[in-house]
Amino acid sequence: MSSKLFTPGKIGTLSLNNRLIRSATQDPFGQPDGTANEAQITLHKEIAGSGVPLIITAYTYISPDGRATDIQVGFCNEEHYQSQKKVLDAVHEQCGKMILQINHAGQNVYFMPNLEDPTPLAPSGNMKAPNGLMTREITKEDMDRLCNDYVAAAVKGKELGFDGVQLHCAHGYLLNQFMDPNYNKREDEFGGSAENRFRFIRRILIAMREALGKEYPIIVKMNTNCAGEADDAYGEDLIYFCKQFEELGVDAIELSGFDWIAQGKQKNHNYYMQRAKAVRAAVNIPLIFVGGVRTQADIETALGAGMDFISMSRPFISQPDLIKHLAAGEDSRCQSCSKCFVLWEREGRRCVLHDKPEEKA
Ligand SMILES: Cc1cc2nc3c(=O)[nH]c(=O)nc-3n(C[C@H](O)[C@H](O)[C@H](O)COP(=O)(O)O)c2cc1C
Repeated sequence: MSSKLFTPGKIGTLSLNNRLIRSATQDPFGQPDGTANEAQITLHKEIAGSGVPLIITAYTYISPDGRATDIQVGFCNEEHYQSQKKVLDAVHEQCGKMILQINHAGQNVYFMPNLEDPTPLAPSGNMKAPNGLMTREITKEDMDRLCNDYVAAAVKGKELGFDGVQLHCAHGYLLNQFMDPNYNKREDEFGGSAENRFRFIRRILIAMREALGKEYPIIVKMNTNCAGEADDAYGEDLIYFCKQFEELGVDAIELSGFDWIAQGKQKNHNYYMQRAKAVRAAVNIPLIFVGGVRTQADIETALGAGMDFISMSRPFISQPDLIKHLAAGEDSRCQSCSKCFVLWEREGRRCVLHDKPEEKA
C-alpha cells in the first residue's frame, strides 16, 4: 500500500487530503441541449462520497461551435451553468472538490452540429474533421472571440463555486492542435516554432489569470507526445511548453498523451512516464500523472518518480469506489480494454469486463 497516496497535497491554494484524482471523463449523460441528466449527479456523488478528494468534470464546450459530440455537456449558457452547478453541489455535499474542464473541440468534431455554419474551426484549414467536414483556418477575430469564451467559462465556473479550472490542452482538441505540428500548419506568428505554436495558449492563460485572480487554481491538461515523426521534436517542445505554463502561473500540469486508447489496448501501464520524468526535471509546480495507472506498484512508481498526484479515468468506470479498493491494498480491476469508451453511445457507461448490461445501463 502506497504511503504517499494517502497523504495530503496541494495544488496552488487547493488543499486535498490525498493524492488520487478522478481525471476528466465524458459521461454518457449529456442531453441534446448540452445539459446533464440526473445520472451524472448520482455518479459524481458516488465517486466523491467514496473519498476521492478531487474530481475533474468531463470536458465542457465553451462555445456551440466547440462541441465535440452530441452527448457532451456544455458550459456556455445559463441552462448549462445551472445543470453543472447541481453536479458540483452534489460533490461538495460529499466534501469532495471539483474542477471544471473547459474545452473547444477545434477540428475534432465527431457529430454533425445543428449550427447555421457547422464548419469546424482549426489552426489550419482544409483538414478533414472526424465528421467528414473540412476545417476553416481560425482568424485573429476568431481568436479574440474564443479567448473571451475560454475566460468567460472559467470566470462563470469560479462564480458558481468550482474549486478550480482545467484548461484542456490535450487529446487532439483545439489548444492541443495549436501546439501539435501534425495539426498546426500555419505560416503566420501562430505556426512554426514552439513559441509561435504556444502564442494563442499563452494569451488565453494570461487573460484567465487576470480575470480569475492570483489565488484561483488553474490546471492544464497536456499531451506529452504527438503522432509520427514529429514526436522527437515535440518531446523538446514539451519542456518549453511546460516551463511556460509554470511562468504563466499555472498551478499544476496533468500529463497525458495522444495515444492513451492504443496504449491501453496493448496492456501498457504508466505509459507517459518517460516524458513525465523529463517534465519533472524541468518544472517545480505539481504534476498530475495520468494514463494506465492500475496497480499499487504503478502508483508507487509514479509517486516515486516525483509525480505529486495520480489521476485515473477508466478504473473509476469499472469501480466508482476504487479508492476503497486501493486503501485495502488491491489493484484496480480495469484492464484498459477501452470498451467502456465505445460502448456509451449505445448502452451507457459500464465496465464491459465486469458489469452486466442491466446493472449499469
Ligand atoms: C469514457 C472516457 C471519457 C473521457 N473523457 C475525457 C474528457 O472529457 N476529458 C479529458 O481530458 N479526458 C477524457 N478522457 C481521458 C481520461 O481522462 C484519461 O486521460 C485517460 O483515460 C487515461 O487514463 P486511464 O488510463 O486511467 O483511463 C476520457 C476517458 C474515457 C475512458
